[in-house]
Amino acid sequence: MYLLLFVFINISLYECSGVEGLDLKYDYTKYHRMEEIYEWMQDMEEMNPELISSTVYGQTFERKNITLMKLGLKNPEGREKRVIWMDCGIHAREWIAPAFCQWFVKEIVQSYKTSVDLQTMLQNLDFYVTPVINVDGYMYSWTDNSTRRWRKSRSSPPAGSGCYGVDLNRNFNANWGTVGVSFESCSDIYCGTGPGSEPEARAVMDFIGEMSEKVLCFLTIHSAGQLILLPYGHPQIKAPNYEELVSVGEAAAAQMKKLHGMTYRVGTSPQILYPNSGSSRDWARLSGIPFSYTFELRDTGEFSHLLPEEQIQPACEEAYAGALSIISYVHDKSFRNSTVPNGDSSRFSPRAVLVTLLCSCLSVSITVG
Ligand SMILES: *[C@@H]1O[C@H](CO)[C@@H](O)[C@H](O)[C@H]1NC(C)=O
Ligand SMILES: *[C@@H]1O[C@H](CO)[C@@H](O)[C@H](O)[C@H]1NC(C)=O
Ligand SMILES: *[C@@H]1O[C@H](CO)[C@@H](O)[C@H](O)[C@H]1NC(C)=O
Ligand SMILES: [Zn+2]
Repeated sequence: MYLLLFVFINISLYECSGVEGLDLKYDYTKYHRMEEIYEWMQDMEEMNPELISSTVYGQTFERKNITLMKLGLKNPEGREKRVIWMDCGIHAREWIAPAFCQWFVKEIVQSYKTSVDLQTMLQNLDFYVTPVINVDGYMYSWTDNSTRRWRKSRSSPPAGSGCYGVDLNRNFNANWGTVGVSFESCSDIYCGTGPGSEPEARAVMDFIGEMSEKVLCFLTIHSAGQLILLPYGHPQIKAPNYEELVSVGEAAAAQMKKLHGMTYRVGTSPQILYPNSGSSRDWARLSGIPFSYTFELRDTGEFSHLLPEEQIQPACEEAYAGALSIISYVHDKSFRNSTVPNGDSSRFSPRAVLVTLLCSCLSVSITVG
């Protein structure tokens, strides 16, 4: 009986290897429907209440919740925390992006208990992760083969048109409507009727706009092309910290290459892709968030948005390394000096001991007096 149980447990563990961790039922090497992702978000929150909480910060055109997961630990000194933003799935067909947001959360959940560096980061930072922003489009792309390549949202056609949806990554209030967009509603890069005309873009702008001075880093995940894009999409505007954005991006690309040898190019959108306007990345930088990047994940054209499931794991592993590289840099830049190396050293410094002694003497003399 015990032997049987033992064998059974071993088989179960074996079957789930590669999917180990606190959520054994979930397969991170498959693409998932929106209903499964919503359920997974709830499960992860319930299983990791000390780390994860969720917030509904908007609704899509079809009234689906836009939900983020906040990952963070209590700051032991009660100091105010800063924010790292990550969103996935603003373009419906880029299925590797939601898969990566889920992978990212899984990695943090599995490793923070044994990583002092990650714990320190989670005490100083809250990670806000939205696995799918364009919920309507993502669900539509799951309908059948004819909708699999859908990119936009699913808002109703404007008067006189039969074409649904807006390119949400052209709808943000950042040089809106100036370059790399279309005003034709049937186009895949239709920018909408005005900056923030779409509820999905509006939700992000409203939510982050309220706390933009707390946000250190904005990462928005797309595919494909293996690029790390930095502001701005408009060829005539240069970010004040352009050089630093490039060097931090290149450090991330170097970490990514180490894993599976894949090359990710780094630059502004006009430099290595095409000019555009109204992107969330540009909006974030214009809002004062110092580090803002678009990740274009695998591949470079063979499968493009139809990346096979066999590549989910390697693609996510390298993307995690890249994201962590940027987040670590951003964290250290803000917190390195105020974090005491080796934890408690200051408490046991000679000066601290002396102060403690003096205080004890004082309290003794006060008591006696
Ligand atoms: C959407 O979010 C609201 C508010 O948080 C919640 O009450 C509601 O149950 C959610 N709807 C679904 C379908 O999960
Ligand atoms: C959908 O596409 C897949 C892969 O291209 C193919 O195997 C499948 O037969 C298609 N299904 C339909 C209903 O056309
Ligand atoms: C950290 O220290 C360096 C050099 O001592 C200083 O230039 C920098 O401004 C400090 N950073 C913070 C966040 O205090
Ligand atoms: Zn995209």
